[in-house]
Amino acid sequence: MLKVKDLRDSFIAFFREREHRIVPSSSLIPKDDPTMLFTTAGMVQFKPMFAGTVDLEYSRAATVQKCLRTSDLENVGKTKRHCTFFEMLGNFSFGDYFKREAIEYAWDYSVDVVGFNKDDIWISIYTDDDEAFEIWNKHIGVPAHKIVRLGREDNFWGPAGDSGACGPCTELYIDRGAAFGCDSPDCKPGCDCERFLEYWNLVFNQYFQDVDGKQTPLPKTGIDTGMGLERLAALVQDVDSIYGIDEMKSLVDFICRERDLTYDGETVIPVNVMVEHARALTFAIADGAYPSNEGRGYVLRRILRRALRFGRQIGISDPFVYRVVDPLVDIMGGYYPEIGKAAKNVKNILEGEEKRFLETLENGMDRLEEIIKGLRGDGKKTVSGRDAFVLYDTYGFPLEMTVEIASERELGVDVDGFEKEMSVQRERGRKSWKGVDSAMEGLFENISRDAGETEFRGYEHDVTVSDILLLGSYTSLADRLKAGDAGFLVTRETTFYGESGGQVGDRGEILSSNGAVFRVDDAVRVNNTIVHIGEVSDGEFQPGDKVRTEIDIIRRNLTRANHTATHLLNAALRNVLGDHVLQSGSLVEPERFRFDFSHFKPLSEEEIAKIEEMVNTKIWEAIAVDTEVKGLEDAMKMGAIAVFDEKYDEVVRVVKVSNYSMELCGGTHVDNTGKIGVFKIFRESSPGAGMRRIEAITLKGVMERYNFQDEMLSKISTILSVPEGDVYRRIEELVARTSRMSKELEALKARSLASNVDQLIEEAVQVNGTKIISHKFDEVNVKDLRELSDLIRSRESDSVVLFGSSVGGKALLLFAATKSAVSSGIDCGNIIKEVSKLTGGSGGGRKDMAQAGGKTPESLGRALEEAVKLARRMIER
Ligand code: SER
Repeated sequence: MLKVKDLRDSFIAFFREREHRIVPSSSLIPKDDPTMLFTTAGMVQFKPMFAGTVDLEYSRAATVQKCLRTSDLENVGKTKRHCTFFEMLGNFSFGDYFKREAIEYAWDYSVDVVGFNKDDIWISIYTDDDEAFEIWNKHIGVPAHKIVRLGREDNFWGPAGDSGACGPCTELYIDRGAAFGCDSPDCKPGCDCERFLEYWNLVFNQYFQDVDGKQTPLPKTGIDTGMGLERLAALVQDVDSIYGIDEMKSLVDFICRERDLTYDGETVIPVNVMVEHARALTFAIADGAYPSNEGRGYVLRRILRRALRFGRQIGISDPFVYRVVDPLVDIMGGYYPEIGKAAKNVKNILEGEEKRFLETLENGMDRLEEIIKGLRGDGKKTVSGRDAFVLYDTYGFPLEMTVEIASERELGVDVDGFEKEMSVQRERGRKSWKGVDSAMEGLFENISRDAGETEFRGYEHDVTVSDILLLGSYTSLADRLKAGDAGFLVTRETTFYGESGGQVGDRGEILSSNGAVFRVDDAVRVNNTIVHIGEVSDGEFQPGDKVRTEIDIIRRNLTRANHTATHLLNAALRNVLGDHVLQSGSLVEPERFRFDFSHFKPLSEEEIAKIEEMVNTKIWEAIAVDTEVKGLEDAMKMGAIAVFDEKYDEVVRVVKVSNYSMELCGGTHVDNTGKIGVFKIFRESSPGAGMRRIEAITLKGVMERYNFQDEMLSKISTILSVPEGDVYRRIEELVARTSRMSKELEALKARSLASNVDQLIEEAVQVNGTKIISHKFDEVNVKDLRELSDLIRSRESDSVVLFGSSVGGKALLLFAATKSAVSSGIDCGNIIKEVSKLTGGSGGGRKDMAQAGGKTPESLGRALEEAVKLARRMIER
């Protein structure tokens, strides 16, 4: 029987013999293609070759490609054939062979290598593709009734992502026999039943489809074929489900063995889900994806959380998915060494993420059960958007998971309502992030519409002359602003950078020729309108006035230095930590900056030192910083780094520091890295799961920090009266001495307690053989009193101890008695109840032990006298 491994090998060997270049699988994370989250097909890495935008080194290729698709996520595990992660066997022609050879190869491999019975193979073709029909029918000899014509839906493929190659296709099916069928006389490929299984798709790439859906003929036609390895293996190994093929089966067995499960009935689906999702997560994380709240990371989060939910159905409530990684590496690590290399990280990431979600999963499920019960009670059929949002926000339930669970109970979810809640939350986040007066928020859209686009001249100039388009207060448009008025002002051109892309807005002044001054406290960007916010400090302004816009140049220079430093940092992080580092946010201010990125563990001191050194080296090399304006597509092709999930315009700025860093960025930068002066990281922390945050400084920030630390150090050195260089050693000495002294003090106290005991016993009053010992202490705490009373009771088996102590201006009473004293009539609880009144407190306790506090330590003497009297009476009675 051919194993999965044999199928990979034989496929590769078959096409190598036919002069195909054997190309390794590309990463699951498509390179240079921000429009795709994951690699979804073998052809993805060849998109530029099909599009004809690169020079070809070869014109035929074959691959075994790792793929990830989430379109059927909610079916995975429940059906026998759906996967998120799968391997695709594919052969490709770029302007080389076309339909005839593609069909011949597919047929020969199916029949001669895999050993399918010719009579079991059926074919589908695109409606009007007579050429394909002729080849199958005349050339190969497939009978006409086994060639089915299907429409666009089934037999036209592509493009992958927003644009790319596409074309009609032909598919190969295996007829598994009438027993699997639906009994319809019309049953044939395309039917929904289980009889005809599609296993190979041959796409005849003929068109290029652009982002608007427009198709134009490709310069050269091509071939893109794809055969799902798992499906093929299931057919070859004659198992009904992909979970039965050798590589999957051993993972199923691993889980069942570990958790003591039999693989039947209710356990099948949850085990399948675990197996499938563990594979998908391992491969995706090994390629640098990372569970998070956005984009690609969110897909992983959904997958993992789904696995945990199903795991719960088979009693798995501890992190477990990560444990599937090792057996998976044993099985597939030979062919895919990257998962072996990354295994340790993958396990760490998964286990951490599992722990976090499992903590709330139980509660979330309970909450959802309550919601469902409530709905049933009210006869409703839809989970509200609000409830779905709470499940998401508080319990980490991805919306899709709530939808899936609800549909299992035949309920719907108000997805629009959920989106509304999400956008309210986003809006809240945006507002607090921007720190813009919320009163203005409502006005911004109007301003932007009325003023239209304004021009930013601040890349090249610090000052420009322009005229006022629009002005107003924080709440409305106005026809003038006079001295003392706060509000906003929009000019046709400006040198002020409006806050965006993490960089803060500029400050400065706008001046009119007749001496009026508008102090700009902030500048924001609304769509493409830059709005200056501030106050008129002199004179008055009206629309149409000629003005000069003058930014605070020092503040801008500091911000520039920090912004370019974020780019150097980004590059250094990727160098030191790896390509999984993706910027997820930043805040660039004049004094400091903050940079958030995906990474799974805290940075070590050595890593931080290395990063600082790398960035400073680039600064001190004084490299020119170049900016270019380019089309988005060209920029991506050049390899510019983009912030994931950020929407870019068609025309973008590319900021380049020789060949060290290249990023898409609209911010303002120094023209030479030397102007950053010096770079220092001062904090490293985590803003959320799977994320790290670096806070760093340059120029002025470094100076301020240096001044602060310098002053501290000099103060400390004065207090300790040692030179600055000795401060550290001196503090170490002092700390050691303090801890030695407190130990000595403890010992001293113990010794003095012990010697106290002898004296106290000597002073005891004896009544009918019971010793009454009473004493008033100063500043002896309750713990020490108790120890002392225990010591006495262990020495004097018939005794009662009556202690008082004034501690920190308060009274404390602690009474204790031995067993035989209690049997002689002593009741400490009763005594304390009486006498604690005298010290302005109350208390109680048992016969052998009682305690009280009070407000008047000066009456402790009287209270103890009274206590002795009561004790004596109790014994004498
Ligand atoms: N691109 C096609 C598919 O994914 C053939 O490889 O089915």
